[in-house]
Amino acid sequence: MDFIETETEKAYRLIAPRPTIIITTQYKGRINAAPFSFTMPVSVEPPLVAFASAPTHHTFKNIEKTGEFVINIPNEDILKELWITGEKLPEEVNELEKANLTGISSSIVSPPKIGECIAHMECKVHSITDVGDHKLVIGRVVKADVDKTALKDGLLDVENVKPVLHLGGVNFVVGDHLRQV
Ligand SMILES: Cc1cc2nc3c(=O)[nH]c(=O)nc-3n(C[C@H](O)[C@H](O)[C@H](O)COP(=O)(O)O)c2cc1C
Repeated sequence: MDFIETETEKAYRLIAPRPTIIITTQYKGRINAAPFSFTMPVSVEPPLVAFASAPTHHTFKNIEKTGEFVINIPNEDILKELWITGEKLPEEVNELEKANLTGISSSIVSPPKIGECIAHMECKVHSITDVGDHKLVIGRVVKADVDKTALKDGLLDVENVKPVLHLGGVNFVVGDHLRQV
């Protein structure tokens, strides 16, 4: 190997491609949806999942106020729609409607699940921590479901449902292909 130095601030881009989720939140009846790729499970029992959000995002502000959110797992079929939910839109705009995605009622929390996503985790806030220029939100999964055809032997059937992985900017990896939105 022949190593070249890379900027430390951009080194996170080497942890890629990253699984990408869409988070739905709701505040005062207003629904919000946005994609996040700074995300990972952090505990099995209790079941905890973390993601990092810029503090300015409506997603974070809604979570801070309501303590609830839903993690939606998209697949390649809704890559374009996922991108639309990532647009900077005024607070009152429902990104699900804008992206033509279907909101379906969650069982325990107020924010809706996305009908077109292959799996959902309803979460209640476990903790929020300041981490540099982001806020680390850890959610306790209180309910989870997955489309029957998306599982094989208890694992995500990635040959059948291709998850969306974020490389950076408009670049995604689906299967072993690079895709740009
Ligand atoms: C694929 C993808 C992944 C993203 N991941 C993150 C992330 O992990 N953390 C973050 O703060 N913003 C992330 N963003 C940016 C937000 O999704 C974007 O700024 C969005 O408009 C925020 O929406 P909101 O203000 O409605 O919450 C990502 C965007 C895209 C397209």
